[in-house]
Amino acid sequence: MKRLGILLSGRGSNFIAIADNIAAGKIPGAEIAVVISNKPYAPGLQAAEQRGLNAHVIQSKGLSRAEHDAAVVACLREHKVDLVCLAGYMRLISPVFLEAFPNKVLNIHPSLLPAFPGLDAQRQALEYGAQVSGCTVHFVDENLDHGVIITQRSVPVLPDDDEHALAERILEQEHIAYSEAIRLVLSGDYEICGRRYLQKGISPRRHRDTEKSRWG
Ligand code: GRF
Repeated sequence: MKRLGILLSGRGSNFIAIADNIAAGKIPGAEIAVVISNKPYAPGLQAAEQRGLNAHVIQSKGLSRAEHDAAVVACLREHKVDLVCLAGYMRLISPVFLEAFPNKVLNIHPSLLPAFPGLDAQRQALEYGAQVSGCTVHFVDENLDHGVIITQRSVPVLPDDDEHALAERILEQEHIAYSEAIRLVLSGDYEICGRRYLQKGISPRRHRDTEKSRWG
């Protein structure tokens, strides 16, 4: 079994989708080892507790980034985590953290990166006048919303969209994309060439078709 560590700060809908997809057998060989929140009242943390998962609060108040990250890394190690998934985790992580889990930290962002990194990505897309947006799951590196892209899913921006409607439409795709990316990464059948994530042993067309039939 590959053990996932989920880091969140809020609602936790991506975490819940991952947990549901594991329960449905859509991410074979994966289990959630621990859910960690930096916010004590994060609804995502309560959802983890309700599911009987290991759930921990590690608050950052009064700690330097390095100290906080060291505590998070220690907790992840204690739970023998293989892959770390940031799911609405509203903190930048330090190089020390990345060194502890090289190429083993994933993040999801609600835009088609490199467009609209940072906060309020959906609002940025609307204000820019983008006609297509979406979500990106990527490896985390030392720069914000920057690491190698594993998968992306697009959605149209509709004329009557406000930020909320666009965010909802993107979120539906996030819930598919994150589990898809975790499954791909856990398969180990990929290589990274420069910035490109390449799935091994499968032609691009077949890759697309397989993912389509699996995730819709
Ligand atoms: C998502 O839009 C995700 O892309 C971004 O933060 C939001 C978290 O939502 N990084 P949730 O807590 O998973 O519901």
